Amino acid sequence: MNYAEEIKRLKTEKNAVILAHYYQENEIQDIADYLGDSLNLARIAMNTDADIIVFCGVHFMAETAKILNPTKKVLLPVMKAGCLMADMITPASLKKYKEEHPTTRIITYVNSPASVKALSDCICTSTNAIKIINHYLDQGDSILYCPDQNLGKYAMKLGGKKFDVWEGCCPIHHHLDPNKIMNLKKEYPTAKVLVHPECQESIVKLADYAGSTKQLLDYAIQSEDNTFIIATEKGVIHAMERACPNKTFILASPTLSCKDMKYTTLKEVYEALKNETNEIVVEEEIAKSAKKALDEMLKLS
Ligand code: 13P
Ligand code: SF4
Repeated sequence: MNYAEEIKRLKTEKNAVILAHYYQENEIQDIADYLGDSLNLARIAMNTDADIIVFCGVHFMAETAKILNPTKKVLLPVMKAGCLMADMITPASLKKYKEEHPTTRIITYVNSPASVKALSDCICTSTNAIKIINHYLDQGDSILYCPDQNLGKYAMKLGGKKFDVWEGCCPIHHHLDPNKIMNLKKEYPTAKVLVHPECQESIVKLADYAGSTKQLLDYAIQSEDNTFIIATEKGVIHAMERACPNKTFILASPTLSCKDMKYTTLKEVYEALKNETNEIVVEEEIAKSAKKALDEMLKLS
């Protein structure tokens, strides 16, 4: 079966839209109506007129889409596609922190379960984290940034003000070895190093530019340089090569591959759309509180 053709036909028949994160497999990126990072995809999901949103990404992304646009049917083609970082925080552990720090404002990375978002003051993504953290610090609040320690520490270094940071991380970015980049820099001395701030400080220090997936892509498009060493999940290389066919992109390490992002195949997208299976459901009370924190993010970014 030609899955790409069948998906196209079903999309029209059912008034569906396909959203895909940059970390998805190439074949998924190629059939997506919208390709984006966490923030762009959340905004697109919120504003779409489609009846069905097929979210090619991981669970927290589809859940966020459902919370922002609750009357739509949101389908996640592979239900087990989760996020290792999101699993590093639970509502029980955050509740305990809140009891011990009753006046601390909670800023939560979008890579988190809805039940954790529901306990938060504001959500952020890698695109707007610095801005949102600084907004709360500037009004004199004490804050906790959770669950990504690396983006938290990066924001602390940039802003020069101290705050609490949860000890979670994205293992794919966190375990990148700086020697890999040092060696590539020797091999490609004119290459610019583009880094996602989910990487540790030892990696961010080597960056010519650090930013969210979309910010890295935009940097590559606008840059006069021709060669780039990429320190984020490998899927973004496909988007970069599509946007800049004459430039060279080198993945910093083959370990930069998120297995959860790679579960989705064309067959699974087709089956989810055809049968309208794998629908995301979020408990009403949780959705209501999580939406308040997401709306705060959208207001501030
Ligand atoms: P962005 O999409 O905000 O760059 O985040 C990267 C990520 O790890 C998504 O899971
Ligand atoms: Fe989660 Fe890391 Fe995979 Fe992103 S790349 S979905 S943060 S495990």
